[in-house]
Amino acid sequence: MTAADADADDISDVLHRVLDMAMRFKLQPDIFRERLPPERIRDMLVVDLPREASSLGALLESFEKTILPLCKNEASPRFLGFGDTGDDPASLVGGVLGLFTQQNLINQSFDAPSATFVEIAVLRWLRDLVGYDNPAVADIHTVWDAGGVITHGGTTSNATAMMLAREHKAPGTMHEGVRNPGDFRVIVPREIGHYSIKSALNWIGVGDQAIEVDTHGFRYDLAALERAVHDNRGRIMAVIAYAGDSRTQTVEHLRRVRDIVRALDSRIWLHVDACWGLVAAFSNQLCHLLDGVTEFDSVTVDPHKVMAVPYSLSALLVREPASLRAVSSYSDLIMQEDYAFGQVTPFIGTKGWLSLKLWMMMLSHGRTGLAALAEQRVDKARRFAALLDEHPRLMRLHDPELAAVAFVYLPSDICPVPPLPDEQIARINAVNQRLHDRILADGTWHLHQFTLPDDHARLRAGATLYPLRFMANNPRTTDTHMADVIDYITTLGGNLEGDIR
Ligand SMILES: Cc1ncc(COP(=O)(O)O)c(C=O)c1O
Repeated sequence: MTAADADADDISDVLHRVLDMAMRFKLQPDIFRERLPPERIRDMLVVDLPREASSLGALLESFEKTILPLCKNEASPRFLGFGDTGDDPASLVGGVLGLFTQQNLINQSFDAPSATFVEIAVLRWLRDLVGYDNPAVADIHTVWDAGGVITHGGTTSNATAMMLAREHKAPGTMHEGVRNPGDFRVIVPREIGHYSIKSALNWIGVGDQAIEVDTHGFRYDLAALERAVHDNRGRIMAVIAYAGDSRTQTVEHLRRVRDIVRALDSRIWLHVDACWGLVAAFSNQLCHLLDGVTEFDSVTVDPHKVMAVPYSLSALLVREPASLRAVSSYSDLIMQEDYAFGQVTPFIGTKGWLSLKLWMMMLSHGRTGLAALAEQRVDKARRFAALLDEHPRLMRLHDPELAAVAFVYLPSDICPVPPLPDEQIARINAVNQRLHDRILADGTWHLHQFTLPDDHARLRAGATLYPLRFMANNPRTTDTHMADVIDYITTLGGNLEGDIR
């Protein structure tokens, strides 16, 4: 049976039930309604396909009873972790319509007659926000005038940027293959870069060509950057700067990085990963953080990280729109038309109407609403930082620039006067790792954990720490929640620390 031969009223009833169930899920206060070990979930769900058909009603009932309670709800006010909430009303509406309309952004004429131009409009709005120039609308004659591509995530956008860098360094490599892998080196900041760049270098066939440069305060040590560019002159294809690194969301001094690199080599491709930093572009109070971004050749932005847009949605924007020609594909089967996005999206063929979510979201907020969203998040992060500073057992590891605040719980026997010896760093890490395990197992709150160099020397310069991280992206998280999570962490830490030596 398909939607076409079912009774429209029946389908409509089921869909109303689905939307009610989905809204109840988003609005539930809990992150998880139920937690089970992975093997229990595996054994419950990985089963053979039954011979007999099931009714939609029965399927929905079983989904709601067995699967949904185990799903994570990022819109819970106690979800303070990775990513965004995915619950912007307009973008949810766009997501649903994107599913129903079943447009395929691979082609324009018969696959996505209007969707293609919605996608172009969204790309131009994003370009406008970061400060790239847009051609006049009447001058958009092909997809190579759009100035970017919508992809499924920051990883794909970064990988496309690395292909552009490779073609810029050695035009034609896409067709002829990589000749001298050592000529495709890429500079990244040590220990704070996102793995997607190194993975992209592997995927595009240049191998392990990342050169890690020391950082200071979660930004490049500029003298070390200059040395690295100088020492590898002629063999570097790209320098990567983070406008909001994955851990602390510190924004690089983009203009200074650009000036140093350009003074030594005008051919190096400059790429900004602004998956998190896009949010600074929304507000006149924050956009100074991105000063210099328009001098970079490409920028990755991730609306699914910072605009409450449901997964997934990313964009790669390029300073010179025509530069995307270097990684284009041609096929006589499909895509022989000027506005076919399938020509300019490496790795992606069929692509759903992802951009509709963002189109709806941006129109429903307008520039003023986007500015308010950014400022509220940054303000909330600062209020959380102030709460941490009042607590003797909590230490934050950086000044928040965007929405992230990384901090550690300090066991009561440790006096945090740097530099701490190895055994005290190890104890702090062990307690914080145990704390995080317990937080995840409880499932009442969610905070992220990762390794982080102590780049501000709060405990000891160069030490690797295992902090907890608060994220201020969730509009449902109030000041009371912030005070509550601090109580929860310090009580749990106090109970655990005696067990860990
Ligand atoms: C800075 C940065 N770049 C790229 C990515 C990859 O994004 P995605 O998971 O959307 O592919 C992430 C993900 O966390 C990130 O933090």
